[in-house]
Amino acid sequence: MQYGYFDDKNREYVITRPDTPLPWINYLGCQAYFGIVSNTAGGYSFYRDARLRRITRYRYNNVPFDLGGRYIYVRDDETGDYWLPSWQPTHSDLEQYTCRHGMGYSTIGSKRRGISASTRYFVPLDENLEIWQFTLSNERQTPAALSVFSAIEFCLWDAQDDSTNFQRNFSIGEVEIEDGVIYHKTEYRERRDHFAWFACSAELAGFDTQRDVFLGPTRGWDRPAAVERGESFDSVAHGWAPIGSHHVRLVLQPGETRQILFVLGYHENPKDEKFDPPESQIVNKKTVKPVIAGYLIPANVDEAFQKLRTYWDGLLDICQVTTPDIHTDRMVNVWNAYQCMATFNMSRSASFYESGIGRGLGFRDSNQDLLGFVHMVPERARERILDLAATQLPSGGAYHQYQPLTKKGNNDVGGNFNDDPHWLIVGVGAYLKETGDWSILDEPVQYDNQPGSEQPLYDHLQRSFRYTLDRLGPHSLPLIGRADWNDCLNLNCFSDTPGQSFQTTTNKEGKVAESVFIGGLFVLAAKELAAIARHSGHADEAAGYLAEGAHMEETVRRHGWDGEWFLRAYDDFGNKVGSKECAEGKIFIEPQGFCILAGIGLEDGLARRALESVRKYLATPHGIVLQQPAYSRYYLHLGEISSYPPGYKENAGIFCHNNPWVIIAEAMAGNGDGAHDYYSRINPSAREAISDVHRCEPYVYAQMIAGRDAPTHGEAKNSWLTGTAAWNYYAIVQFILGIRPAYDGLQIAPAIPERWTGFRAVRRFRGVTYQITVRRAGTGNAVKLMVDGQAVDGDVVRAPADGRTEVVVGVTLE
Ligand code: GLC
Ligand code: GLC
Repeated sequence: MQYGYFDDKNREYVITRPDTPLPWINYLGCQAYFGIVSNTAGGYSFYRDARLRRITRYRYNNVPFDLGGRYIYVRDDETGDYWLPSWQPTHSDLEQYTCRHGMGYSTIGSKRRGISASTRYFVPLDENLEIWQFTLSNERQTPAALSVFSAIEFCLWDAQDDSTNFQRNFSIGEVEIEDGVIYHKTEYRERRDHFAWFACSAELAGFDTQRDVFLGPTRGWDRPAAVERGESFDSVAHGWAPIGSHHVRLVLQPGETRQILFVLGYHENPKDEKFDPPESQIVNKKTVKPVIAGYLIPANVDEAFQKLRTYWDGLLDICQVTTPDIHTDRMVNVWNAYQCMATFNMSRSASFYESGIGRGLGFRDSNQDLLGFVHMVPERARERILDLAATQLPSGGAYHQYQPLTKKGNNDVGGNFNDDPHWLIVGVGAYLKETGDWSILDEPVQYDNQPGSEQPLYDHLQRSFRYTLDRLGPHSLPLIGRADWNDCLNLNCFSDTPGQSFQTTTNKEGKVAESVFIGGLFVLAAKELAAIARHSGHADEAAGYLAEGAHMEETVRRHGWDGEWFLRAYDDFGNKVGSKECAEGKIFIEPQGFCILAGIGLEDGLARRALESVRKYLATPHGIVLQQPAYSRYYLHLGEISSYPPGYKENAGIFCHNNPWVIIAEAMAGNGDGAHDYYSRINPSAREAISDVHRCEPYVYAQMIAGRDAPTHGEAKNSWLTGTAAWNYYAIVQFILGIRPAYDGLQIAPAIPERWTGFRAVRRFRGVTYQITVRRAGTGNAVKLMVDGQAVDGDVVRAPADGRTEVVVGVTLE
């Protein structure tokens, strides 16, 4: 069952009924001002940091789930009938409801009793504000007297404090209303130099800024007293809960359409120019007024919207493909790339499942996310890499997270997740291959943000690599520390106290438990670092890295192979995890994927066998589960993984982030059919037809799909902010379609399904546009390359020597 459809041409997903199984959301903003908007106009906004600069209030885990947001009420002033064109929370009968989620904007509208209303929400580029472009039409035969009420609830900035510290917060709310603009200035009198404002382009009949006056003390958002009576109270908030609501009255003739602009913004003043007059407590509005005035002019708003579209088209057009599979095309060309930009902007901080107050940017997450967005925003990827590296510890280890506002390592979570440092090598490798910007390696970067500790970025990579060699266990495999990629495999935790953090509690010394996964990651990192060294004047070191990698590969073969698949780990007692000897958790997905990604076993059949075991024991129609059999109870020595009921999250859920590792492994093993089959099982577009089972948005990946041990097998959870986005993008574009930035040029090595006759792609790479046509001539993956009509050896297209910027590439697969 479906709740909408893809409008591929407009790069939109169109939701055709408001009662989706979960809120289906979109992101507004891509620089500093951000918003989340659901298909029923729920959600909130913030400036840079979802915890510390929350502009509007939102209550997570609400009932109903999605309540509160960017509301516009329409009232028929003749009958008193009122509704929200976006449906929540009045649930009025609507005709022709549609929500179009597009690239950085959402348009939500409907019709009721001959009145059509629709709002386009977006954040213009380079501005700290959001626009609600509201259009109202009278499709009746008679004139319509209507009222329109906007409504938002302001957050008192620190979202954590806002939802806990009521004894203080109920007394500090403050606003100003000037020329119909509502200014929210709580705490401005003391240390804040920022405020929010909410403006309307139409002449006002009234306004409200005190929530309980607007709603009435005993009512909710579904029955505001002001809307019901058809007249604002002109309330001025003092304490309690400041809101912003404008009231506009209008009469529309039959066939007439009117547009009203509502604009919500964030503004900062210099510390010493906060007030006007200076000795007063009145917000200085000198610099904000021109901004407000500008965006209340429809022509400017239309122009800003066109700019936004052009911006997104520019990003997406860097890589466009035409394949025989529509689900592949729309994910690669639009939605998966778009989601990668969301993970770049948000990391794991703010979605409808991440409250925006919990986590900073993850070291391993952000490095992996690079794989999905580096081609779109290389300069910003560069900055991200340098920020991440600056939090690295002198030991080569890493803070697990850093805070986006301070850009400093997060002491609460600390380090000792022993996979973390290697992801920096992976991230930097991806950046270098995309851009060829070798200068980044010479960039001086601090350790632990300590001035004076600057070393070239290259030195950071060396220390990342050393970190593991300094921390080997009894089998010479890498010690796992608090956890490796699997945050929930906590082999040194041994926690029996409720509420303790599995990630930061360490009750064992950590000198025994080892990770085969990190072994695989190390082998991959060794090859990457060797390649980086060879290309950057450190060629003498390359052999050393390769030797260490080869040595680790030997160790993985000797101590990390279980007969039919790769082992997962050794626990604190030196016992195997993920082995046929185990009663539960016999086989895990991560080492199968990652050891093969590192090239282990591709030559001698181990990879094939591991992949067969994955197919036999882990694959389901909804994706590949994390391990089998699921843990049926809590095991002190395994940690959080065994805390989840079977089939969810890391306990045998389909943890979508690691499915692409197997997809890539299949592609590397030459099995394009298998790779694309797995790809399709979790491809959200391919799952659109079962939206009633999947329940999350069909246009973006979710972190998890419930595994076969769960009663809700096939149900997705935690959409949007997940490493799944980057890894799937990487898997489909670089390994199945095989269009792969390499150090020396653009490599083209597809592993497509046998039934595909070929595909086309346009890829902009290092200033050159490559028009690529792949044609299947045989059943294999052997590549014959023609570059501008000339046969070329190998599978790498080098930059044209003569400075041409258009290159035609013909690929024959034999
Ligand atoms: C979450 C974390 C990520 C971790 C994964 C597996 O997605 O953000 O860092 O690797 O879970 O536990
Ligand atoms: C929790 C989640 C896990 C996530 C981790 C990181 O343990 O279950 O998926 O990776 O938190 O913060």
